Amino acid sequence: MRSNIVTGLAAAVLPLANATAACLNATQKYAMTAAAGYSTKLVLSDLVGARGIVFDPTGHLIAVSSGVGLVRLTLAGGSSTNITDVCVTDRQTIAADHNINHGLAIAPDGKTVYASSIQTVFAWDYDPTTGAATNKRPIITDLGINGSYHNTRTLFIPPSHPDLILVQRGSVGNIDNGTTDPANGRAMVKIFNRTEIAAKPASYLSTGTILGWGLRNSVGWGQDPTTGYIWSVENGMDNMERDGVDVHQGNPAEELNFHGLLNDTKSPEFGANYGYPECFSAWEPSLIPHAAEKNIVVGAAFMNEMSANGTGEGSDTWCQKQRHAARLVFSSHMAPLDIKFRKDGSAAFVTMHGSWDKQPAEGYRVSRIDFGKDGMPKEPASSNKAEIIVVSNTNSTTCPGSCVRPVHLAWDPHVEGRIFFTSDASGELHVIDGA
Ligand SMILES: *[C@@H]1O[C@H](CO)[C@@H](O)[C@H](O)[C@H]1NC(C)=O
Ligand SMILES: *[C@@H]1O[C@H](CO)[C@@H](O)[C@H](O)[C@H]1NC(C)=O
Ligand SMILES: *[C@@H]1O[C@H](CO)[C@@H](O)[C@H](O)[C@H]1NC(C)=O
Ligand SMILES: *[C@@H]1O[C@H](CO)[C@@H](O)[C@H](O)[C@H]1NC(C)=O
Ligand SMILES: *[C@@H]1O[C@H](CO)[C@@H](O)[C@H](O)[C@H]1NC(C)=O
Ligand SMILES: *[C@@H]1O[C@H](CO)[C@@H](O)[C@H](O)[C@H]1NC(C)=O
Ligand SMILES: *[C@@H]1O[C@H](CO)[C@@H](O)[C@H](O)[C@H]1NC(C)=O
Ligand SMILES: *[C@@H]1O[C@H](CO)[C@@H](O)[C@H](O)[C@H]1NC(C)=O
Repeated sequence: MRSNIVTGLAAAVLPLANATAACLNATQKYAMTAAAGYSTKLVLSDLVGARGIVFDPTGHLIAVSSGVGLVRLTLAGGSSTNITDVCVTDRQTIAADHNINHGLAIAPDGKTVYASSIQTVFAWDYDPTTGAATNKRPIITDLGINGSYHNTRTLFIPPSHPDLILVQRGSVGNIDNGTTDPANGRAMVKIFNRTEIAAKPASYLSTGTILGWGLRNSVGWGQDPTTGYIWSVENGMDNMERDGVDVHQGNPAEELNFHGLLNDTKSPEFGANYGYPECFSAWEPSLIPHAAEKNIVVGAAFMNEMSANGTGEGSDTWCQKQRHAARLVFSSHMAPLDIKFRKDGSAAFVTMHGSWDKQPAEGYRVSRIDFGKDGMPKEPASSNKAEIIVVSNTNSTTCPGSCVRPVHLAWDPHVEGRIFFTSDASGELHVIDGA
């Protein structure tokens, strides 16, 4: 049974108009397959470089169109249960900005929008009724240099603590040994206070509180609304070798990491190091020499010999004892980029962008992870069955070159169980029903 959601946001969500002939272009290039119980539809093509998406309090969708700027979309398609009619009836570029490329967040009152470039997080004053975005200003600086290796900076305002904003930065390079010094401000996520940075722009290097580090490139952040727990998804390294043997086809695992509560600064998670660059988690132990005798099972941490020497700090045992373990693992090189929870906490949805470093290619889908009443994933950390595929490319043999590559997720505030996702490679917005 579904109903329109009361969002708790300051302004009222406008009802959806009936879809009409005025729907904007949604010409399907790639066939998609939905698992039983789900349906999916392309709702907008020609959304160049589609990355971050968030709903504003009036029910318009704001998107980062990388290389273009902030785009505001008006949706139609009734408020009922039929995905067939969902479409976009209007689009406005509300802030032309060639440099913003991924990160996007909106204050719960809808009056401030945040977006990130490689170097800077910017804020705009935003009017949810007209869509006007004005008074662009930098609020966090020193996030990196142009053309560095991992160029996105994810922004996340946790619903439990809306006066805070999480800002993530990845490593520069596949192996970035400099990330073992937190002062370098890479491969981590920091917490900033929105009130404080509004008053005075903050340097990412010298301010903010580290929530987690040793995170190679944890692009996706989410919060379980029933527990307040913070979770992230991390992209593991490419071209991994172990004892000189190429193990990259099945290793390392992509990770789901647990970060606890934002107000529990004494928890083992708060400020923890998750292992990068010395330690990763195993996905296919059978490819790793001597895995059994070293207790390297699925999900177990093991030493990365391309960054550590295997003795003392940087041994397998040190990785397992001294670095915070992943709570769940996924198949290698799927490049998870976002995680968003159902409001009842029973599942999280994860986008798998896919990468180039695996043959045959894998990822390019949206998946579900089931959570129990204790707020933890139902599957154990050693499981290789935690990912439940929801929507994927019908034929992924043309990936990553030509296919749908899911990036960011946003729950529809109009209809429960409806979630939108972007695909940057194909320049599209899709919707999933039944989520
Ligand atoms: C609609 O989008 C497709 C896919 O991007 C494009 O090939 C086509 O030219 C577009 N059609 C119109 C009328 O803009
Ligand atoms: C959904 O709407 C389409 C178009 O109006 C219609 O053809 C289809 O039968 C509807 N499906 C359901 C399950 O109501
Ligand atoms: C980075 O690129 C932006 C936009 O092109 C430019 O304004 C800025 O000066 C560049 N910064 C550096 C350090 O090259
Ligand atoms: C954020 O900063 C403001 C102003 O200093 C302060 O009142 C508020 O308590 C801070 N919020 C948190 C969660 O620390
Ligand atoms: C964190 O906040 C929640 C309410 O949001 C509260 O129930 C809990 O006791 C707090 N925990 C700590 C450690 O302060
Ligand atoms: C990282 O450190 C390891 C161990 O000192 C070294 O072998 C490796 O060359 C370094 N990698 C890079 C990219 O600097
Ligand atoms: C291995 O690396 C650790 C940590 O950097 C260091 O303490 C140790 O001396 C190194 N051992 C050898 C044999 O190089
Ligand atoms: C998938 O796409 C490839 C490349 O276009 C094609 O050769 C193959 O026949 C397709 N497979 C199916 C099942 O359609």
